[in-house]
Parts: sequence; C-alpha cells; structure tokens
Amino acid sequence: MNLTQYYKYEYAKDMLESELRILIKEFERKHGYTPVEHLKSRMKSSESISRKLIKKGYEVTEENAYKYIDDIVGVRIVVSFLSDVYDVVSLIASSTNLLVKERKDYIRSPKSSGYSSYHLKVLVPVYLQDYVEYVPAEIQVRTVAMDFWASLDHKIRYKFQEEIPSEVQANMQDYALDIQELDRKMYEINKIMSKYEKDLNEKENH
Ligand code: GTP
Ligand code: MG
Repeated sequence: MNLTQYYKYEYAKDMLESELRILIKEFERKHGYTPVEHLKSRMKSSESISRKLIKKGYEVTEENAYKYIDDIVGVRIVVSFLSDVYDVVSLIASSTNLLVKERKDYIRSPKSSGYSSYHLKVLVPVYLQDYVEYVPAEIQVRTVAMDFWASLDHKIRYKFQEEIPSEVQANMQDYALDIQELDRKMYEINKIMSKYEKDLNEKENH
C-alpha cells in the first residue's frame, strides 16, 4: 500500500514526542522529581497497517488506513510508580496543544488477558504550509512492572499467533495479578519515602 500522507504522521510523531518531553521536564522542574523511566515513540509500518485493516475486515486502502487506524503514531511512557501514571495522564490532559479524544483506564479495569496500562487517544496539531491538520495518536502510560508483563505477553502472542495454549493464558493472567500486587506494594514504599523526605525537609527548615 502506498501511503502518500504518511509524512504528516511522521511530523505528528515528532511534534508529540517533543511536546511530551517538554511537559515532563516542566513537571520535573516544578516537583524536583522524575516520574518517567523512559519514553519511546514509534510509527506503525505500512505492513502492520495493512494487517490491522484486514483483521478489522476493511479493504486495504490509504483512505481506510487513516479512517480506521488511529495508532499509526504511538508513544509509550514508562513510569516508576502507580501514582506516576495518573500524574503523567493529568499532565497530558493539561496540555493546551494536545486534544484528548478518549481515555481508557486498563489499570482500574484490566483486559481479560490481564493487560493493564492507561491509554489516551489524542489529536496532535501539525502545522503545514497553509493549514493545521489534527493527526491522531495513541499514548500508553504504564509502570515498569506493567511494561515487563506486556512485553513478554507480546512475545508470547507473536510466537503462538493468537493460538495461545490455555495454560499459558491462565498463567499470564495470574502473573498480571502478581504484577498488580507488586505495583501496590511499591506504591506504599513510595508513600513512606515521600513522607520521610517531607519530614526531613521540615526539620531542616526549622
Ligand atoms: P486496536 O484496534 O487493537 O488498536 O484496539 P483499540 O483501539 O481498542 O485499543 P486498545 O485500547 O485495545 O489497545 C491497543 C494497544 O494496546 C495494542 O496495540 C497493544 O499495544 C496494547 N494491548 C492491548 N491489549 C493487549 C494485550 O492483551 N497484551 C499486550 N501485550 N498488549 C496489549
Ligand atoms: Mg489502538
């Protein structure tokens, strides 16, 4: 499939990545704390776009690609603690440049596979020569623990091509619960750390 408008999505990816990096730096400056472990963006290849269109039952055309695939531009933000996910989501929502179209909280309501992450569908303004175009993108926000689970799950799915043995599926669902618990425990540790830091600061200021 020949994607003549693909370049606009590439601009959108650059735009979005730069906007997010600035928002995160501003957060760090304000709070003196780094919530983000890493941020990665990617473009969906023409082959993956075709595959997804076929899977969704649409004809493989350039028009359908832009109409039905809204994650041609994707950004993943991996954070340390559970609370950081929601801080980063609020940060994105506060951006005056990005338009948040949809939010899906797969942390509060994980998928049946066990997958958990926070998803945002946004529109990114791309300043072309004589007009502004709003290009869709998907942002995934998750903790390091969720990222670990999701990347192994992805490998398993790739290997078994959707025919995942039920035993493997059941184990992955169990491990997703383990991850959930671990994230909660780490969150508690973070709360203790924050309180300790706060007390120390107060002592120093007296
Ligand atoms: P799509 O048509 O697949 O984009 O569905 P959607 O637009 O409803 O998006 P959804 O919120 O379901 O999630 C899409 C993206 O989330 C995928 O491209 C994956 O990156 C990720 N994802 C969703 N479910 C799973 C899962 O069970 N395992 C893993 N590893 N990733 C998942
Ligand atoms: Mg999607």
